[in-house]
Amino acid sequence: MNNDANITWHEHSVSREMREKKNGHKGCVIWFTGLSGSGKSTIANTLDHMFHKDGFQSVVLDGDNVRHGLNAGQGMLNDTHGEEFSKRFGLGFSAIDREENIRRIGAVAEIFTQTGVIALTAFISPYRIDRDKVRNTLKEGEFIEVFVDTPIEVCEQRDPKGLYKKARAGEIKGFTGIDDPYEVPLAPELILLAAKKTPDILADEVITFLKKKGILS
Ligand SMILES: Nc1ncnc2c1ncn2[C@@H]1O[C@H](COP(=O)(O)OP(=O)(O)O)[C@@H](O)[C@H]1O
Ligand SMILES: [Mg+2]
Repeated sequence: MNNDANITWHEHSVSREMREKKNGHKGCVIWFTGLSGSGKSTIANTLDHMFHKDGFQSVVLDGDNVRHGLNAGQGMLNDTHGEEFSKRFGLGFSAIDREENIRRIGAVAEIFTQTGVIALTAFISPYRIDRDKVRNTLKEGEFIEVFVDTPIEVCEQRDPKGLYKKARAGEIKGFTGIDDPYEVPLAPELILLAAKKTPDILADEVITFLKKKGILS
């Protein structure tokens, strides 16, 4: 039988409070969103280093890495069920696939939050509704949406992976900011002006916010 009624929720015997007390900070999701090349991974990893140095528990969930594992693409999944498996569970970049990509990541980030970890996520996450759905799975104050606000001209100039060049040449279809939408957050907790400031300064801005909200003491 595969029925929701037969699946019960298990409470953890080590409570969140116990974990947070031990860690010396609260669990939360710091959700970076912005164009490709805006600086999401750089800032997330800068913070991860800072947290690690201070003995805090943090984790980075990064777009490309997740798409190699948890959310591997169609054609990347090799299972005994072959093509059907890949077709059903492999994720691409269509709107529906992006929705499922973010849903799965949100679910993972929520587990980290529940265990008192600071989850740093670095995904373009272009659709407002998908980000808001993750927000709604968390309690008030646990989802910190950080808009990495870098103009597309700057992202395109940086182009460390040569992706904008390929998108402009039509070699990549559905590239966010070129021929796919990016929906700017309407009420993010933080906006980082990542074309004008260094990653260290931007990371400090996030830390100041976390202290103000009592996530870090
Ligand atoms: N604040 C910043 N100032 C200048 N360059 C930056 C800054 N943040 C990131 N970069 C550079 O921009 C490029 C893209 O950054 P990355 O973090 O990979 O972006 P994203 O993860 O949003 O795609 C990299 O080459 C990185 O070194
Ligand atoms: Mg990145």
